[in-house]
Amino acid sequence: MKLLLLGSGGREHALAWKIAQSPKIEKLYIAPGNAGTRNVGENVAIKADDFEAVKEFVVKNGINMVVVGPEDPLVKGVYNFFKEDEALKNIPVIGPSKAGAVLEGSKEFAKEFMMRHHIPTAGYKSVSADNLEEGLAFLETLEAPYVLKADGLCAGKGVLILPTLEEAKKELKEMLGGMFGNASATVVIEEFLSGIECSVFVLTDGKSYKILPEAKDYKRIGEGDKGLNTGGMGSISPVPFADKAWMQKVEDRIIRPTVEGLASEGIDYKGFIFFGLINVKGEPMIIEYNVRMGDPETESVMLRIKSDLVELFEGVANGNLSEKTLEIDERAAVCVMLVSGGYPEHYDKGYAISGLDEVKDSIVFHAGTALKDGQVVTSGGRVIAISSYGANKEEALAQSFANAQKINFEKKYFRSDIGFDL
Ligand code: AMP
Ligand code: GLY
Repeated sequence: MKLLLLGSGGREHALAWKIAQSPKIEKLYIAPGNAGTRNVGENVAIKADDFEAVKEFVVKNGINMVVVGPEDPLVKGVYNFFKEDEALKNIPVIGPSKAGAVLEGSKEFAKEFMMRHHIPTAGYKSVSADNLEEGLAFLETLEAPYVLKADGLCAGKGVLILPTLEEAKKELKEMLGGMFGNASATVVIEEFLSGIECSVFVLTDGKSYKILPEAKDYKRIGEGDKGLNTGGMGSISPVPFADKAWMQKVEDRIIRPTVEGLASEGIDYKGFIFFGLINVKGEPMIIEYNVRMGDPETESVMLRIKSDLVELFEGVANGNLSEKTLEIDERAAVCVMLVSGGYPEHYDKGYAISGLDEVKDSIVFHAGTALKDGQVVTSGGRVIAISSYGANKEEALAQSFANAQKINFEKKYFRSDIGFDL
């Protein structure tokens, strides 16, 4: 099989690493990929959301399957683009239809979907310029802190958590006034939920599903979960509180109603669903859906999948996922992210990365790297994910931290407390 993977981050390198291990793969292409993905496949200089260029490449190279890493092409409708094209319609795309991707593309739609299917989530009110007064009144009924979410995609920046009512009211007006452009023309005000978060992933063919290993990511830049939000500074899997009993609740109350809800609404969904959950006094609640894998969760989760991922993708494409088996590695897997100094605010790019060859007993996934005159250089805020196995998370973390010392670039930063709260 010739497979094309769309995307360019650490998540895509981890997916590519796993896909490349499949005996079914004759050739793996990554568009556009990064300096690491070229070690497991061939990079193609095409942007993931340039559908016409993707089409030309797919037709010319006889691609048999397309796997979509990031949300952008999904929300823009890459699945439908393939289905509606004579030359592409028989080539499976692993990722939801445009209608399914709205679960991530609109927070308001996601909340309404959760309500329709009685999926436990925070109380909310959806507000636009027309009903600002109702929004302000709803805020008065809540207790601090206050959660405001831009309805549309904001690259992970569209959620504000405000400590006082005054600030919440002020920010609500600013969001509706265009703080995030059109993405915040509608704002979802939510009740604040207190607990530890956990990311749960499934792969679905629209009828049945496989639950992948869960993971926890560490979003804040500073140790002890302080400071600004980032794309994610590290991840661990398994998550200790996500034991059998808890995961059963997640499956019964959240996963099954979601997959059945999508089917009952006639939404074509063949791909990953990422459930952003929070453990509220032992009860799982859903905070958000994403329609793709998480980053940096994928850099831990892929290590724990023993089965052939491409075979599972075939089950998704052919609608017989229930006949496939998913075997999970009992070991712990963790990822520690090396980032550019200054991230998530201003940082410089183009610094040479050294020591990649000295890494022992970890797997290095490139997140933001590029090749410049034969030298691997930094090209993003999140630069390198160092993933490791261990008998437990402590062992795996020790391995990743040891290797984090060996890889160097100017202004390198990482959190040395990943997993501290579990
Ligand atoms: P989201 O983009 O919806 O995942 O929100 C980003 C982050 O904001 C989440 O990962 C949580 O840490 C936090 N968050 C979102 N909604 C809530 C909520 N209702 N209660 C508490 N924290 C929240
Ligand atoms: N790690 C969270 C995300 O991928 O959105």
